[in-house]
Amino acid sequence: MEELPADVAAFVDAHLVDRRNSNAVKWDGLKEEFGRDDLLPMWIADTEFKAPQAVLDALTARVQEGTFGYSIRPQSYYGAFINWQKERHGVTVEPEWMRFGVGVVKSLYAMVNWLTDPGDPVLIMQPVYYPFMNAIKDLGRRVVSVDLQLTADGWRMDFDQLEKTLATTHIKAMILCSPHNPVGRIWTRDELTRLFTITSQHDITVVSDEIHGDLEVSGPKFTSALQVAEGKARQNLVVLNAPSKTFNLAALLNSHIIIPDENLRAKYDDFIKQLHPVDTSLMGQVAGEAAYRHGAAWLDQVLQVVRYNYRQLLDGLAQAAPKATVADLQGTYLAYVDIGAYVAPDHVKAFVEGICGLAVDYGAWFSPKTATYIRLNLATDPKLVAKAITRLTEHLSQPQL
Ligand SMILES: Cc1ncc(COP(=O)(O)O)c(C=O)c1O
Repeated sequence: MEELPADVAAFVDAHLVDRRNSNAVKWDGLKEEFGRDDLLPMWIADTEFKAPQAVLDALTARVQEGTFGYSIRPQSYYGAFINWQKERHGVTVEPEWMRFGVGVVKSLYAMVNWLTDPGDPVLIMQPVYYPFMNAIKDLGRRVVSVDLQLTADGWRMDFDQLEKTLATTHIKAMILCSPHNPVGRIWTRDELTRLFTITSQHDITVVSDEIHGDLEVSGPKFTSALQVAEGKARQNLVVLNAPSKTFNLAALLNSHIIIPDENLRAKYDDFIKQLHPVDTSLMGQVAGEAAYRHGAAWLDQVLQVVRYNYRQLLDGLAQAAPKATVADLQGTYLAYVDIGAYVAPDHVKAFVEGICGLAVDYGAWFSPKTATYIRLNLATDPKLVAKAITRLTEHLSQPQL
């Protein structure tokens, strides 16, 4: 395996934190989820890297100011986010389109609640981030999945099946994952255009969860739904994103709800006032602004670490377990690995935890059809990733499996 480039190694040394005993779900929540705390944690989508120094400085300055009374979101926050979107992705966002939340998943619940009625079907594309299913089911709606298809060219949307489903089922709302967790795809402009053409013909409101949009590891550049959806599709569009995944700020609870259409926005405002939710976390907003202003170089280094770890994973598997497959890691740091050539679906958990000593997100959580998959978090110490790969490959290559 190639060496970690010197600048990336220096970044890792300077930013790596031992998160044990810090109440990190990924480390200190092992026992609760897996019943034991000695597993190597490759699950949960956050990282072991300290946030950008500018974020730490901004938070420290805010703490030193010393008062924590009721607070507004300053215009400078909008400026920092809007500028980031423009410079990093070429996406235009107007300040008046923005609403706020304290987490994308919390906003997903609000969206399902707002856009549909109990009993209604909500469209998703499995395998997908399991809180999508939870939100739909917890609110008494019905999951309708037009499953993604694994083709010779990787994971693709199934437009034929989509048309067939929409011909027979009246769908009001769809939750899109873009980029897609867990299959890693950055949807191309063509794919998104085709999708929005179909959804607009059926008058479907699309909630596009773009929380992974900044995590461009490989493949096409990220395209936001805001760049593609026009006409009726734009009138029926909500985009959710946040600085949390990008800059490792999840517990600071700060996320965005972007609704470009004035009428839809007014309807959202009308709905949400009944819930009167908390929509601003002071520290999250301070951290987010600093990150958008000064965090680009930090993010570029994290992405280098992820690319390196992805190459480690591909090399390790190619050598010791060549029949394992890894989804193309385009727009996330979460690798979706199929070990089904070696391990039967009902043995995956015993193999991963009992034999390899790893904690992962299981494919079965994302779709019953991907029960032989495991999702590995690659935004961490390359040495930790190397250890996980060794444990996995050592045992996958055992003939007795
Ligand atoms: C697609 C997707 N949406 C939302 C989230 C979580 O967002 P939040 O912590 O803001 O609720 C994640 C976290 O992994 C995710 O992958």
